[in-house]
Formats: sequence, structure tokens, C-alpha cells
Amino acid sequence: MSAEQRVLSGMRPTGALHLGHYHGVLQNWIRLQHEYECFFFVADWHALTTHYEDTADMSTNVWDMVVDWLAAGVNPGSARLFIQSRVPEHAELHLLLSMITPLGWLERVPTYKDQQEKLKERDLATYGFLGYPLLQSADILAYKAGYVPVGEDQVAHVELTREVARRFNHIYGKEPGFEEKAEEAIKKMGKKNAKLYRDARRRYQEQGDTEALEVGKALLESQQNITLGDRKRLFGYLEGSGRIILPEPQALLTPASKMPGLDGQKMSKSYGNTIALREDPASIEKKLRTMPTDPARVRRTDPGDPKRCPVWQLHEIYSDDEICNWVREGCTTAGIGCLDCKQPVIDAILAELAPIRERAEEYRNDHKLVQDIISEGCEAARDVARETLDEVRQAMGLNYR
Ligand code: TRP
Ligand code: SF4
Repeated sequence: MSAEQRVLSGMRPTGALHLGHYHGVLQNWIRLQHEYECFFFVADWHALTTHYEDTADMSTNVWDMVVDWLAAGVNPGSARLFIQSRVPEHAELHLLLSMITPLGWLERVPTYKDQQEKLKERDLATYGFLGYPLLQSADILAYKAGYVPVGEDQVAHVELTREVARRFNHIYGKEPGFEEKAEEAIKKMGKKNAKLYRDARRRYQEQGDTEALEVGKALLESQQNITLGDRKRLFGYLEGSGRIILPEPQALLTPASKMPGLDGQKMSKSYGNTIALREDPASIEKKLRTMPTDPARVRRTDPGDPKRCPVWQLHEIYSDDEICNWVREGCTTAGIGCLDCKQPVIDAILAELAPIRERAEEYRNDHKLVQDIISEGCEAARDVARETLDEVRQAMGLNYR
């Protein structure tokens, strides 16, 4: 698989995960791990950018989250799982990129002002917090990831990453004699392909013909007789930039989780409306039995309207047409009680979580296994990141070790 097929994503160590994480991010990861070379990591340094003063729970939060990834079905046989702070190359790349990143780019990232507004009680006037989207850029670029699954709120960070990569390539991709070397490389493709390449390059650069750009790229992909270095040179030469050292990633927008919380709002720890993935079944049952319903149904004999009931949102996720029809009919005619109505949802959630809870228990009882999985993932991640950093240092003229 080529680097463009690489997927990278990170999650802050928030501790034990809940159903909202499962139906949003995790199921998406689980799908992606079969299609791409995936790297998923615990963004522990990112947690420090907003919560530097309370680190007492960090290690518990890290391991609890990893256990939940594994229990949910993220498969260490397909995806690499690692911890950011165990791959110091992230920090090195962050530092190097910080040299070329205009301050204004960071100040203009929407989350910068938003979060400062939202989290007034936190001290976010730090260097670390301003730089955190760039740390994310380093996370992504260290792996030359082609795709970055993120939620809506993080798309701007991937956009920043693209700009930083472009700037890096522009500044450091033009080694001395770049054009001569590119021209030499073109000749190595043979007469016919050289002509096709030159045509595509001219059409793209003179007329902005993006189809020609794609043709040129495909042509380069298919070349067998040119070296990796020449290929990168020719990609850059085609686009009119320098050599592409850090490829621009694309955001893969994670479909927003439709999982409502127990109050009908989005499920989120800060709203206190969650069901944890390994929550005790009795507690889950109690939470669901006491969750609010359509306020119009005060008495059992009052008819209700599913549209005004958070339980209905759960039926939409968990129930088939037959049950949904039974709910609509029974609710609007007061034919069923709310507890009757909730039972199929309770059963479905308990059934969904039983195997996850069981697997989580196994991982919790075998911490060594979890540590080994992470160690292996860290090694694999480091191999890739080290290689990128070698290239980055080389391009920046820091190759005098
Ligand atoms: N900033 C992301 C969040 O808060 C987590 C994250 C850190 C991330 N580095 C990343 C996501 C790299 C994708 C790629 O959710
Ligand atoms: Fe909600 Fe079901 Fe009660 Fe209707 S019957 S109000 S849908 S819980």
C-alpha cells in the first residue's frame, strides 16, 4: 500500500468511552482498518494543551481508552495502535514546522478563539494551546497520511496541515539544480512517456487543466524505471512546486454520530447523559428506565408523540420497522406504556454491549497483553516517523549527524 492509502487518526485520552464514541468514531475506524493501512493513536500530548495542570489520571485514562478501542473491535492485527508521547518524532516535527508557520495561521484557526470562549475557566493563553493544531499537523505529516478521519470541528486543522505541508515543500523542496534533475528524470521515462508527461505538465501549468494533472500523476504512478527520488521530483515538477516531501492529507469526515444521550441531546460526558461501553447492565437498565419521555405522557392513559421523545431516537438506531410501527401506534394511542416501549431498546443496548464488556474484561485482566500491543504499535509507528524525519532533516539541511 502506498503512503497515500495511509490513514491516521488520534483521540484524546478521555478515559472509558461511551456509546456515542462507539457509534461515531470507533465504528468508522473499524470500517477503515480493513480498507487502509491505519495508524490510530492516543493523543496524550494534546490533552496537555488544555489540561496541563491535572495529569493525575492521565495513565488510567490512556489505558482505559485503549482497552475500549480493543474491546470495541479495533484490531491490532490490522491497525497500528500507539501513544503519541512514545514517538518523539511528533515533537521534533512539530518544532521544525513551527519555524515556518506564520503566527497568523494559528491565530485564525477557528477552534483557537472558540475554545477560549467556551472554556473560560481554563487557562488557554499558553504557547502549547496556540500551537496545538500544528502539533496535529506534525502528527499527520510524520506518517505522510493520505486520509485523516476527523469530525467536523477538526476539518480546519487538516486544512492547516495542507497549508503547512505546501509551504514546507515550497521552501525545502527546491534542492539546488532541481529543474535540471527533473529534466534528467523525464528522459529516463522513455521518449513516449516523456512526451506524455511534458504535455500534461504544460496543459496543467498553462491552462490549469486539472484533468491533465491527474493524467500526469497516473503516468508517474505507473513508471517502473525511475527511482523514488525522481518520482517525487517529477510529482513536484508537474505541479510547479518543488519536490513533494510532505504530501497534503485529506480530511475524511466522520459521519456525525446519531447516538443521542439519555436526555435526547448529543451523548457527551460533559452533559452527563452517557452510557459507558463497559457499564454494568443493571446501571444501564436503570438509566434507560428512568430516562425522560414525551412530557405530554404524564399518565399511562395520555397519548404521546414519538417525535418529542428521546426514546424514539434510540428506536431509530436499534429497532426494525416492525418495532418502530408498534411504537408509533402504541404511543399515539396510549396503547403501550413507556416502560413497555423502552424494553426493546434496553434489550438491544444490553445485547450490543455484552460482548464488548466481556472483551474489555479480558483485556483489563491482561494488562501485559495491552502493553505489548501498544509497544508493537509504537515501534511500527516510529519506523515510519523516523523515516519521514530523516527526509525532513535532509531537506532542511540538518543532515550532519
Ligand atoms: N485534535 C484531535 C481531537 O481533539 C485529536 C487529534 C490529535 C487528531 N492529533 C490528530 C486527530 C491527528 C486526527 C489526526 O479530537
Ligand atoms: Fe416515548 Fe415510547 Fe413513551 Fe411514546 S411510548 S413517549 S415513544 S417512551
